Amino acid sequence: MNQQKNLPIGVFDSGVGGLTVAREIMRQMPNEKIVYFGDTARVPYGSKSSKTILKYSGQIERFLLSRGVKAIAVACNTASAYALPELEKDCPVPIIGVIKPGAKTAAEITKNGRIGVIGTTATISSGIYTEYIRELMPDVMVHGRACPLFVPLVEEGLWEDPVTEEIARRYLAEMMDEGIDTLILGCTHYPLIRKTLAKVVGDRVRLVNPAYETAKELEQMLESRGLLAEERPALGSADSQYSFYVSDMADKFQQFANSIIKYGILSAKTINIEEY
Ligand code: DGL
Repeated sequence: MNQQKNLPIGVFDSGVGGLTVAREIMRQMPNEKIVYFGDTARVPYGSKSSKTILKYSGQIERFLLSRGVKAIAVACNTASAYALPELEKDCPVPIIGVIKPGAKTAAEITKNGRIGVIGTTATISSGIYTEYIRELMPDVMVHGRACPLFVPLVEEGLWEDPVTEEIARRYLAEMMDEGIDTLILGCTHYPLIRKTLAKVVGDRVRLVNPAYETAKELEQMLESRGLLAEERPALGSADSQYSFYVSDMADKFQQFANSIIKYGILSAKTINIEEY
């Protein structure tokens, strides 16, 4: 029997946002174990340079590999935008980012070839969503917009608040005027304000959630390599199907995790990521 199938999937993000990706993996692949790392000491990545994002992502990749993961999901859009090719280089396990799966779905579902992308300042200025979408659909119009206020609003819990709605109206006004019919939620946090965004763009615009698309693609990737776990892990009382590690503020992380993931009490351990 292939023992590798029973190893966990490593998932990482700059902080709590990647829990939206972990949650999709839990929903779509309930047999899988997950080791999650949130870089809560060094968040946000969205306003950092590519050099720093590369360094942080490399350390996290080494940490996850040291935990014996069978695959890695780079849940952070900013880290996927800047670090994925470098992380892939010497990685002994399959690795997936969140950008390609979201870009692919957007290209598949747009009817008028006008796509909006929102994300952190770093993700939008990388132009990577546009690049991937154009590979699939050369004549597409992609309107990117950085929305730096959304991350703090989400972390403050203002998911369906009038303030968030007003800010969304301002951020999205220009792309709405350009007639987009598809909007990619290109940041880990944005699926949590999906309802507010849907209200602002109306039902003629379809929202693409890269967290959902990534979990779907990850499942296909594991299946094609014979790496899908076949049954729920049999765990001892001290073990857990899902392990969470952070670089700071484990309590705050735990509280947030429990508010969005309904799979029992989740606890998080703090580690020193600089050692990796
Ligand atoms: N996780 C980041 C992303 O998806 C958002 C938070 C940050 O800026 O680090 O781009």
